[in-house]
Amino acid sequence: MPQATTPATPLPHPATVPLATAASAFVMQGDALYLDCAAQGPRLRSAHTAGLAAFEAVARPWQRVSPTPPEQREKLRALLSQLFAGEAHAVALVPSAAFGLATAANSLPLAAGDTVLVLEGQFPSNLLCWQQRCAETGARLRGVSRESGQDWTDAVLAAIAEEPNLRIATLPQVRWDDGAMLDLDRISAALQEREVALVLDLSQSLGIVAPDIERWQPDFIVSVGYKWLLGARGLACLWASPRWREDGRPIEHHWIAHDGGPDWRFAIETAAPFADGARRFDAGGLDDPVRLAVAIAGLEQVLAWDPGKIATALGERTSALHDALDAAGLSAWATRDHAPHLMALTPPTAILAAADAALRDSNITCTCRHGRLRIAPHLHVATGDMARVADALSRFA
Ligand SMILES: Cc1ncc(COP(=O)(O)O)c(C=O)c1O
Repeated sequence: MPQATTPATPLPHPATVPLATAASAFVMQGDALYLDCAAQGPRLRSAHTAGLAAFEAVARPWQRVSPTPPEQREKLRALLSQLFAGEAHAVALVPSAAFGLATAANSLPLAAGDTVLVLEGQFPSNLLCWQQRCAETGARLRGVSRESGQDWTDAVLAAIAEEPNLRIATLPQVRWDDGAMLDLDRISAALQEREVALVLDLSQSLGIVAPDIERWQPDFIVSVGYKWLLGARGLACLWASPRWREDGRPIEHHWIAHDGGPDWRFAIETAAPFADGARRFDAGGLDDPVRLAVAIAGLEQVLAWDPGKIATALGERTSALHDALDAAGLSAWATRDHAPHLMALTPPTAILAAADAALRDSNITCTCRHGRLRIAPHLHVATGDMARVADALSRFA
């Protein structure tokens, strides 16, 4: 007699919240004004519920659950692809931005005498792997810095023009430290004219500012998941262009990135072929139902709100802070040309520590680093709350 199969226990699939009531979607506490989303996104209730349920389920590994981790992986990949050009097979799952960038560095050709372009002060995940690759190949790193009054885009364009042997530019769209934006339309056009490869670390913009794949023609794009994608730590994404989906060199060879065939066998003589598309870059150790559940719930909410609409709403919050700073006589501290969701205040050095302490005393959380207070709200913050920052700092005017 055929044995009845026990049905798999379904993991919960929490509903998304409409944009009009977005603040209610977050797990937040009392009076805290959390403005450090460039460090860590705020936790969605839906992601929290989904993560807890997955955590409970992994305590009973004998119990079948639905979706399985491979199904979760494919679901997450499909959701992520909606942030790019919609092709699921263009996206790999990796544990960190650094892992994805190291994959890009391992795949792109580079030789002695070539140059790789980075920004001065760019996030170290997008620097260290290139230092290593340049040391191995005899290539050279060119750090772009700004002349006074110059913006980053003009500084990058000038550096591109000055470097005859430029092979790779590896850049952000939004700077992690003060929210300054690069005009990737202009930069990518200059790179394409010279056939220079473009690698992008969009950890501070994906989920807010949409990448234009068609126009920029990047080779690789990476982003962490735990900031503006409202997902989990230890789960980042790597988008690869069609060429590298065929030719790219992964930095590890996990079985998950290879096709073991229907009976899942790996011959000694010949390596099993890569899995389809960018899946060849999929890293091991990511079959964690908890992280995957959190990442899926986060991304479903971001997509339901629509990154463009999130950007508009967050732009209202940073504008409200500018208005409040103007009224408090502190407008000179604020960066002006910044992304809608990320800005910085630069108090005089002598009072930086006191200004940081004043914010903390008012239960406001932000990052103080390199002489700046970095301000990065998400939709848990009401536009009216932003004045609290100016109020807390008003005695320094
Ligand atoms: C621009 C940027 N890239 C990458 C990261 C994190 O990278 P990783 O996942 O390698 O730790 C951060 C974190 O703040 C960041 O701001």
